[in-house]
Amino acid sequence: MHLLVTAGPTREHLDPVRFLSNRSTGKMGFALAAAAAEAGHAVTLVAGPVALDTPPGTTRVDVVSARDMLAAVQDWLPAADVLIMSAAVADWRPRRCAGIKLKKASMPATLELEPNPDILKTVAPLKGERLFVGFAAETGDPAPEARRKLAAKGLDLIVANDVSQTDAGFAVDTNRVVLIAADGTSQALPLMSKLDVARAIMRWCEERISYSAGTSTRQETGRSSPGAFR
Ligand code: PMT
Repeated sequence: MHLLVTAGPTREHLDPVRFLSNRSTGKMGFALAAAAAEAGHAVTLVAGPVALDTPPGTTRVDVVSARDMLAAVQDWLPAADVLIMSAAVADWRPRRCAGIKLKKASMPATLELEPNPDILKTVAPLKGERLFVGFAAETGDPAPEARRKLAAKGLDLIVANDVSQTDAGFAVDTNRVVLIAADGTSQALPLMSKLDVARAIMRWCEERISYSAGTSTRQETGRSSPGAFR
């Protein structure tokens, strides 16, 4: 398989030195890329600004903003069998971005924001036979909101994590997730390393791809480089 994995935060600049972002470190997404490469798959890793080494055997594409990430996903999607969106994409960006550092005195008291594109919703029409896997970062029981996002974003699987826990979600090496599939099945995994969570997600994708290969005339993409899907 060829997996396209997104990881980390996006940064939405209001000037060259200031930005809106979130607490994502990329650990979950990089673990997914490592688990996929370890299993022998081709991997393109689209990474927001993070301080992690590139997992061996993967192709890394660095991006900054949500719009950059969307463009990279659109470029690489034609080559992919599976898209896994583990990135914490900023939903909003400042309406204006200054070309030079804003002086303290000229900083507006209120920031005007505008919505970023939803990457999964934007590429949904291009899904075809590909598997689309999303994540849901929630505080409290993540399952109800994850089910809503699974349906709203047309996903095959959503990985729900409660990011209010100290040993799960953002910036830690462990996670506790529930895998919720579009066919109604779900699996709550215990606390594990992010690498083991990634391996479990990989197994789910491998089983699903081999099942659909056996039951349909799925077309091979046969591509390993970016195409034009924008
Ligand atoms: O990076 P770490 O420090 O290891 O932390 C891991 C994590 C907490 C970031 C990860 O486990 C996680 O939950 N990632 C998803 C975070 C998130 O943005 O969730 P969401 O519920 O806001 O978004 C739902 C889905 O839509 C996600 O797959 C997201 O990538 C996608 N999305 C969101 C916004 C947007 N504009 N476009 C999108 O495609």
